[in-house]
Amino acid sequence: MNLLFIGDVVGSPGREMIKEYVPKLKEKFRPQITIINGENAAGGKGITEKIYREFLETGAQAITLGNHAWDNREVFEFIDDAKYLVRPANFPEGAPGKGIVYLKLNELEVAIINLQGRTFMNPLDCPFKKADELIEAARARTPFIFVDFHAEVTSEKQAMGWYLDGRVSAVVGTHTHVQTADNRILPGGTGYLSDVGMTGAYDGILGVEKEAVLKRFLTSLPVRFEVPTSGRNQLSAVSIELDRKTGFTKKIERILISDDHPFYS
Ligand code: FE2
Repeated sequence: MNLLFIGDVVGSPGREMIKEYVPKLKEKFRPQITIINGENAAGGKGITEKIYREFLETGAQAITLGNHAWDNREVFEFIDDAKYLVRPANFPEGAPGKGIVYLKLNELEVAIINLQGRTFMNPLDCPFKKADELIEAARARTPFIFVDFHAEVTSEKQAMGWYLDGRVSAVVGTHTHVQTADNRILPGGTGYLSDVGMTGAYDGILGVEKEAVLKRFLTSLPVRFEVPTSGRNQLSAVSIELDRKTGFTKKIERILISDDHPFYS
């Protein structure tokens, strides 16, 4: 059973890469499940219903979010009806939407969980305790459990990987927009990658125009970040092969597509 996960799509450059490469990646890696992190898909901030539907039409079965989940206010109008939209599960009780989604795959079920870190991020409920609660319920239904841990620091991500090792299929990180090279299978069988990386403008900084980010570093003044409207793009993803019986990872492979990392089908 193969799973393809595409890291943080930033604005229209990211959406163009999804349209161009998801069909090619599907042909190469043959995933039964494709998941996209879309928290920055709408102009670099949040997600709209149109984009959510576009991702599903391109072939994704679930869309995960993160700390920018609420940045486009349109989300409040459709999140409760969006069956395949997963926001961080450790938002306080009462937040709209859901933090776990079950996908049906013939006779199998796959649980998709989104959690958010707390180090250098807005305070939320404990992601570790929330993971315990969700995984206990999910394991009663299926051994196939995928976790997108949206967090800033690698130590918190590694901690989550080790904490969930042997209990979930894979823990992969999002949010930093830079892919890490530490894909591995932990001793208990859980696939792990600290950060999948970003899908969007290749010549910006984390997917936004570099001039504004530079101005912020050079002057410490507030600036408005914009997504580039032209230029080269990149796509970051991970392909995970799961054991059909145990649900654990057999192979976890990083995918990076850019002018410096060409795609070979
Ligand atoms: Fe984020």
